[in-house]
Amino acid sequence: MSVREEFDAWAADGRDRGMEERHWHTARDVLAAMPVEDGDRVLDLGTGSGYALRALADTHELSHGVGLDGAPEMAGNARSYNQSEGAETLSVTVGEFGSLPLADDSVDHVFSMEAFYYSSDPVKTLRELRRVLVPGGTVHIAVNYYEENVHSHDWQENIDVEMTRWSGPEYREAFREAGLHVASQRNVPDRETEIPATEAFPTDNWDTREAMVERYREFGTLVTVGVAP
Ligand SMILES: C[S@@+](CC[C@H](N)C(=O)[O-])C[C@H]1O[C@@H](n2cnc3c(N)ncnc32)[C@H](O)[C@@H]1O
Repeated sequence: MSVREEFDAWAADGRDRGMEERHWHTARDVLAAMPVEDGDRVLDLGTGSGYALRALADTHELSHGVGLDGAPEMAGNARSYNQSEGAETLSVTVGEFGSLPLADDSVDHVFSMEAFYYSSDPVKTLRELRRVLVPGGTVHIAVNYYEENVHSHDWQENIDVEMTRWSGPEYREAFREAGLHVASQRNVPDRETEIPATEAFPTDNWDTREAMVERYREFGTLVTVGVAP
């Protein structure tokens, strides 16, 4: 199944808002740590419902925020949410991670949450990000699906789009291969997902409380930050 078919189906039955709710727990920490200044241009790669740019536009006078997504229905939903929230500096573009419809040196910062690993050629995508970033621009790739997070390993079974499961060191290596400097890498814990008391386990999704604590409070979201030379 293509990215378009898979995520258009998600958008059509309201799963875009469900993702937003789950991802916001850690995305907000990533957004707060981005060195965005008034007047900056920001790209959200795999924007989904577009919540990340709306959050940035609430706290910064962005020159422009572009949400890019390969699923037209998803992009349509993001556009309508932007409109109903009066986010005038934001736009949504339908496009592919491997060939960004953006000019060289046209973006100051890139954010991407739970989207990058769907790229069919992740190093090519990083090269594209480097191309569109101005020198000194930053890229913040946040993922919950990664090698060290053993609790994510079976996620591929539930989705028809092929996913790349890199480790932290593999992310750093790929950033460098694409010509980006690695500025930092960290885990952002999810402190909001409710974890029931020990007596509630096993649950439908978790055998033990320890495993659930590890998944959310310890592993959380892996964030790799790169800087364009
Ligand atoms: C799991 S959703 C995450 C959305 C949002 N960032 C969030 O945090 O909720 C991944 C999004 O990336 C988009 N996407 C995945 N692979 C893509 C690709 N190769 N090109 C363009 N968009 C892609 C999907 O259409 C989907 O909306």
